[in-house]
Amino acid sequence: MANNEDLFKQIIAHAKEYGFIFPSSEIYDGLSAVYDYGQNGVELKNNIKQYWWKAMVQYHENIVGLDSCIFMHPTIWKASGHVDAFNDPLIDNKDSKKRYRADVLIEDHIQKIEDKINKEVEKARKRFENFDEKMFRETNGRVLQYQKQIDDIKERFATMMNANDLAGLKSLIEELGIVCPVSGTRNWTDVRQFNLMFATKLGSVSDGADTIYLRPETAQGIFVNFLNIYKTGRMKLPFGIAQIGKAFRNEIVARQFIFRMREFEQMEMQFFVKPGEELKWFDYWKQTRLQWHTDLGIAPENYRFHDHEKLAHYANAATDIEFKFPFGFKELEGIHSRTNFDLSQHEQYSGKKLRYFDPESNENYIPYVIETSIGVDRMFLAVFSNAYTEETLEDGSLRTVLRLPAKLAPYKAAILPLVKKDGLPEIGQEIFDKLKKEFMVQYEDKDAIGRRYRRQDAIGTPFCITIDNQTKEDNTVTVRERDSMQQYRLPIDSLVDEISKKIR
Ligand code: GAP
Repeated sequence: MANNEDLFKQIIAHAKEYGFIFPSSEIYDGLSAVYDYGQNGVELKNNIKQYWWKAMVQYHENIVGLDSCIFMHPTIWKASGHVDAFNDPLIDNKDSKKRYRADVLIEDHIQKIEDKINKEVEKARKRFENFDEKMFRETNGRVLQYQKQIDDIKERFATMMNANDLAGLKSLIEELGIVCPVSGTRNWTDVRQFNLMFATKLGSVSDGADTIYLRPETAQGIFVNFLNIYKTGRMKLPFGIAQIGKAFRNEIVARQFIFRMREFEQMEMQFFVKPGEELKWFDYWKQTRLQWHTDLGIAPENYRFHDHEKLAHYANAATDIEFKFPFGFKELEGIHSRTNFDLSQHEQYSGKKLRYFDPESNENYIPYVIETSIGVDRMFLAVFSNAYTEETLEDGSLRTVLRLPAKLAPYKAAILPLVKKDGLPEIGQEIFDKLKKEFMVQYEDKDAIGRRYRRQDAIGTPFCITIDNQTKEDNTVTVRERDSMQQYRLPIDSLVDEISKKIR
């Protein structure tokens, strides 16, 4: 059984080998934290986006879509706070010349202590038959000591981050004895703030071109179009605006494959509500978004909420939906009650009234906002890593299968004539032409049937349809299910209905 690190490496290798994800500009040795989606990856990614869009826009009569631009007026980022505060604290090691996020170094240190606790728990679990983890954590001396260390570091760390105490962060890194993973030394520079937005120029430089930014989130495009959509869509509170699009962040530490990228895609929705009703809607979206994830059939124990204790100054509630990635539980989606902060800021900076007229109370006010925000790529990684399975079959052979939710799989079915003769390819081609109008399907007639099944398992195709000599007699085919490998015969005429039913 591979450990988590090895498993993650296998997942990354599989994504490349089967045309899901390639490092960007690979023939030029790649570009750090930028990835391209290959022929299968783009299908899976599009299906994720479609699943989100349907759930958010199509199934909610009071949510509409938007496609705003990546380039926006630079004052937007001043108003939103990104110019002044969208920073990460960075630190360099003078010996290795490597750059790190100071907060990540400290978080990794905390994780190491947490790993020690988990080891103790594991040891005890092996020793005691009626092992009670909760009681053990509360009574075991060593574990209590580790937990105290963690609590102490976390408290000081949070205070420093809130106070923007960069000197304090450096002292904490030194005091904890954190070494550079490359040089192994503690020879650190001071901690500095680093703005994560990519800047570029609009117009020609000689004309005194303006600095503009590649958007670091899609949300601001929604806020600055609030009035347009409210007026032209004759919207009534509560209503939402949803958008899928690219975002860019100059991440200092870009690692863990597509978990943290410099160019990525977000699916965001801002839900505008009457002031005072925001916490009710926050709870609604918390549950609704979790349900969206678990409806995919992924085990609920892979998800957990992480409610924020320390809130940003503009938020009055915030939670993350965390997912159990191969490297542990990490943020997959954020749900934030952002009060009326963004619209108020844009009202102030633009000088335009961004208010809603409430016909019931005859009042004008700035609506409050609940935001749901999820990264497409992070969702891709969650689904892909959860689906990746290696299993030993009864005959001792190894099978690698992507148990993707059928509705997200790149191809819904593969059409496979048993042999490349006797008229079977022609029947296969006819079935292909029929099914391709309904779903993404593949036709394959090369190699032995067993190898073709394995190739389809590896890209997560839920159904393989095999044409054999019996097909010529009774117009039936063999359907093989990916997960159970169960096989049964179906009439060709019922394929569209049967597959549609199972995908739904
Ligand atoms: N508008 C709110 C916002 O952007 P965020 O927590 O910074 O909030 C929201 O980002 C989501 O976008 C995250 O939960 C994550 O899924 C995704 N995300 C953020 N930074 C990312 C990155 N560098 N690479 C991939 N996905 C990222």
